[in-house]
Amino acid sequence: MDSKIVKKYVKAGEILKETQEEARKIIKSDAKLLDIAEGIEKFIVKSGGKPAFPVNLSFNNEAAHRTADINDELTIKKEDVLKVDIGVHVDGYIADSAFTINLSGEWKDMIKVNETALNEALKLVLENGAGLEIKKIGEIVEKTIKEAGFKPVQNLTGHGLEQYIQHAPPSIPNIATNDSKRFEEGHVYAIEPFVTNGSGLVKEGSACQIFMADEVKPTRDKTARKIMELILKEYETLPFAERWISGKIKMSEFERKIAFRELMQKKCIRAYPILKDENGCIVTQAENSFLIDGQEVILLVK
Ligand code: CO
Repeated sequence: MDSKIVKKYVKAGEILKETQEEARKIIKSDAKLLDIAEGIEKFIVKSGGKPAFPVNLSFNNEAAHRTADINDELTIKKEDVLKVDIGVHVDGYIADSAFTINLSGEWKDMIKVNETALNEALKLVLENGAGLEIKKIGEIVEKTIKEAGFKPVQNLTGHGLEQYIQHAPPSIPNIATNDSKRFEEGHVYAIEPFVTNGSGLVKEGSACQIFMADEVKPTRDKTARKIMELILKEYETLPFAERWISGKIKMSEFERKIAFRELMQKKCIRAYPILKDENGCIVTQAENSFLIDGQEVILLVK
């Protein structure tokens, strides 16, 4: 891999590490989700990076894709289990990492199991580097989680990372599969096991707060056109939040809703609904990313 590109990934990882430390300070009982999200995203920018996607702050049985809404009044309570998934990019080169926080400590064993599953998987990668079969990750993750009495979320996977592409192939399953693909030199990957005491399958909820540009097509609505121009200029092919757009273009809430509806209908943008396991259960997440540069495996968040 070009050494200039490696440096950008490493820088994104360093910023992400500091951002995670900042996030742990901001996340306190009764803190507003909106303040947490904005605090984290502003810290990334102040540190010289950009958010690769809206910080995901998913609660309890939710696995992913919640972020703060415009005027969000939600607060975090000490009994909540919050997944904090942060992406930082430098010129489109993305570091992606997540942790789970539960202020009451009630779910610390489950969180620990999740971290162990991730660490066992990363150990395999660090020992073997390029050439390791991707299915070895799913095997060790599933075994670690099941031995501890929990389930992995089967239909969420790790993924590749490419410039301005947060979810590039291949997918990296969190369960045993017959996949024969191997990790390759010059590539970047994220491993992200999720642990649940629910069904082990997540479904899309109705709420949507995160979107991504899909295909540029003509739109009738003037606000929709302005929004699309802004998205392509500011976020390219990376996910964004409705909250990010609202302050940047002068429009009423009504105009914004109409514009988003047209962009969705025309498939100019696609939505990422909140993903959740069954009601009442708890889901945790742990994630890190790494690049394989020749013989060397570089963890992005150390
Ligand atoms: Co990820």
